[in-house]
Amino acid sequence: MMRIDILTLLPEAFTYLNYSILQRAQTAGLVDIHLHYLRDFATGRHRITDEPPFGGGGGMVLKPDPIFTAVENILQDHQVNDHPLTPSPPHPIILMTPQGRPFTQSIAQELAQHKRLLLICGRYEGVDERVRQRLVTDEISIGDYVLTGGELAAMVVVDAVVRLLPGALGAEGAAETDSHATGLLEGPHYTKPANFRGWEVPEVLRSGHAGQIARWRRQEALRRTWDRRPDLLLTAVLSEEDKWFLGQLAAGEA
Ligand code: ADE
Repeated sequence: MMRIDILTLLPEAFTYLNYSILQRAQTAGLVDIHLHYLRDFATGRHRITDEPPFGGGGGMVLKPDPIFTAVENILQDHQVNDHPLTPSPPHPIILMTPQGRPFTQSIAQELAQHKRLLLICGRYEGVDERVRQRLVTDEISIGDYVLTGGELAAMVVVDAVVRLLPGALGAEGAAETDSHATGLLEGPHYTKPANFRGWEVPEVLRSGHAGQIARWRRQEALRRTWDRRPDLLLTAVLSEEDKWFLGQLAAGEA
């Protein structure tokens, strides 16, 4: 079972994790998610977690001490859980920040291999640089825009990782054909009715020919990627037949 610890000033925001596939994954014992309230690790009567920046300027900066104390406390469970704490932590300690490496499906796959993850959600202007330099092992951004805090970003990462855990999705291998998992965008999907307001489902999908259906799906995935995200074609693994079909697309013949 994977364990995910999340350190946040807003644990209430994480109700999304209690529904649907993420909830099922937890009750099925695939993942154990623990929320930790950063303020619980702050000292003093006011349990202050943030202060104005040295040097002036706007906004507040998260203080290092509550974050270090929290992470050290949370990782104590390493020992309890037979994961001895080593000088370089065996499990990723990830800071959610717009300055992190851009999150992708392949990072989700990489994170899904770990037994344990710890996500730290920033808030306000940012976190004290010593957290970056001396505590975290990784920094992840979910995109080139700025959120008010790392909570939504952490939920994005948890969602993308947990659905990859074996058994999390109902259908066998459903995650393998996802957009991005194959390096391509997925093509169109259809369900009943076969005729909706006069708009028909492509005949090949109703033909029952597994080979033709697979070929059509591959071609439609290539077409969609060609149209919308041609940049992905530079890194996708392509067969000779794929390349031939892309040639047809380029020539306007498909
Ligand atoms: N915190 C604020 N903005 C963020 C982003 N884009 N990604 C990750 N964490 C964030």
